Amino acid sequence: MNAGIPPDPLCSVAGYRSNQDGKSLLRFLTCGSVDDGKSTLIGRLLHDTKNLFEDQLSTLEQDSVKYGTTGDDVDFALLVDGLDAEREQGITIDVAYRFFSTPKRTFIVADAPGHEEYTRNMVTGASTADLAIVLVDCRQGVLQQTKRHSFIASLLGIRHIVVAINKMDLLQYEQAAFEGVVADYMAFAKGLGFATIRPIPISARYGANIATKSADMPWYDGPSLLDHLETVATDSKVSEKPFRFPVQWVNRPNLDFRGFSGQVASGTVSVGDAVTVAKSGQQTTVKRIVTYDGDQTSAFEGQAVTLVLSDEVELSRGNLLVSPTERPNVSDQFQAHVIWFSHEALIPSRAYILKTETDSVSATVTALKYSIDVNTFAHQSAKTLAMNEIGLCNLSTQQPICFDSYTENRITGNFILIDRFTNATVGAGMIIHSLHRAQNVHWQALTIDKAARAEQKNQRPVVLWFTGLSGSGKSTVANLVEKLLHAKGKHTFLLDGDNVRQGLNRDLGFTAEDRVENIRRIAEVAKLMTDAGLIVLVSFISPFRSERQMARELMPDGEFIEVFVDTPIEECVRRDPKGLYKKAMAGQIPNFTGISSPYEAPENPDIRLHTLGHDPLDLAHRVEDYLNQI
Ligand code: ADX
Repeated sequence: MNAGIPPDPLCSVAGYRSNQDGKSLLRFLTCGSVDDGKSTLIGRLLHDTKNLFEDQLSTLEQDSVKYGTTGDDVDFALLVDGLDAEREQGITIDVAYRFFSTPKRTFIVADAPGHEEYTRNMVTGASTADLAIVLVDCRQGVLQQTKRHSFIASLLGIRHIVVAINKMDLLQYEQAAFEGVVADYMAFAKGLGFATIRPIPISARYGANIATKSADMPWYDGPSLLDHLETVATDSKVSEKPFRFPVQWVNRPNLDFRGFSGQVASGTVSVGDAVTVAKSGQQTTVKRIVTYDGDQTSAFEGQAVTLVLSDEVELSRGNLLVSPTERPNVSDQFQAHVIWFSHEALIPSRAYILKTETDSVSATVTALKYSIDVNTFAHQSAKTLAMNEIGLCNLSTQQPICFDSYTENRITGNFILIDRFTNATVGAGMIIHSLHRAQNVHWQALTIDKAARAEQKNQRPVVLWFTGLSGSGKSTVANLVEKLLHAKGKHTFLLDGDNVRQGLNRDLGFTAEDRVENIRRIAEVAKLMTDAGLIVLVSFISPFRSERQMARELMPDGEFIEVFVDTPIEECVRRDPKGLYKKAMAGQIPNFTGISSPYEAPENPDIRLHTLGHDPLDLAHRVEDYLNQI
């Protein structure tokens, strides 16, 4: 989507628009199953609209003889596959955009490659598309992929669909075959809210009903594909949308000039218009609209401009300038559809980076309401989302973000989710609305604060977070540290996994999702206890780096001390204080850490305690010494 993956070339599109004598622009993408003929169709469109260069054509003719799969004919799939190979050298690009034009219109085709990762690529390509061509092999009919891609297209706000029923030549251009597929498609797509669905029988290979009507299908009285693409009305009333301007950078070449550069995401703005900074609510007016070609009186969607404002406002990169009368939401809790891309399933409660056009914040899925079955569109209860699954989620962010609902604005209503450790984009979301609870719950300022409580106890609150395998010695050492601190008159509390799991966390088991929630709760409890001025000792396996990092980020800098109780698994198995390893190895305890569930050891703990051959009391003194030094 626009938020993080290389965006589609909006800037060049704006340029393209003006170069083409005001011709209208249609962005579309092609989707369908792997062998439905996507490459052949795109190649055919480029060829039949004379958008190929002579040299491309002669190479294609030679390649078709050598490698083609279409007998004596030109194999158009080779053309697109050849471009694919070029693209593969620039491996960071997820989606290739092909430009072509006819006397009536300019087109941008988002070509999303990939099989398994198709959903991810499709989301990237679809978020700015006006129309989707859903390819169906007339022999196969409507498949699961057809439904999935149509559903995603509707979720991503695509309003117009062409059902291109391909390979009609292989069924002797039979009308009944076409009509059977159309009936099936219409039956499931009627609930998806498309403005238009245009079925067209085609043969991409022979160019039937592509640029011209085919004599082989006299029974078909609709337009050719190109005719339809040239004339379909798109919903281009973008300028009527509220003004949204994400600030990309503050342009300050010298003391006399301060402008805010970016691209108009929606609506229009004119010199003299009042504008508001979305988060702070500060209001001012537009003094100048500066571009490379000089000043303008107005700017509209897609244009890259620099705005000079009448007043000195607090406005930095990542802020949103908006229309004062139509403000976006500013909230830290909202509901959204989430499409999951990653091989590693979504874990509610885990902190991901949520990135929008303007914000990049830590976020968690606080509730997965349901997942959606792409075959029946039924809602199913779900604990997680696997790769390519779609769900309705409540999300919460660490700081408030600015957004619109996706149906109102596809640019300010979308986000992506990024794994904090691998930096991979793991999901994308379309925001539905802000949650009321966020608006009705306000932080209450308390008179007796953390500093006052800590001062009374004459100590500095910290969290000592002990992590390590079961049986590594966490609780033994943590217990001794608490004894030492207590003896010195310190106010402490020890939170121990086994104990907390008998009360507050009694509802949680040992699946990855439950462990993540276990740690989230305990991190929050530890934070409350530091607010109470205590020195908190936490002794939980806490096997995942991601959650330990989340706990660290919950506390002010320097208040979280990670203590890795580093004992080799062989030694833990040998000690086996509760007899659990024996049972786990006999297959009697599922998901046992170190045996059938992973332990991600800390890479840079604040304190590393090797327990093998060391006296636990010496180790406890080491922790105490560390505390004395900070
Ligand atoms: S954590 O992984 O979610 O951090 P936690 O520290 O709360 O685990 O609980 C670990 C304790 O639960 C272990 O010391 C052990 O006594 C017990 N336990 C029971 N089943 C398991 C299991 N499958 N994996 C690990 N520990 C388990």
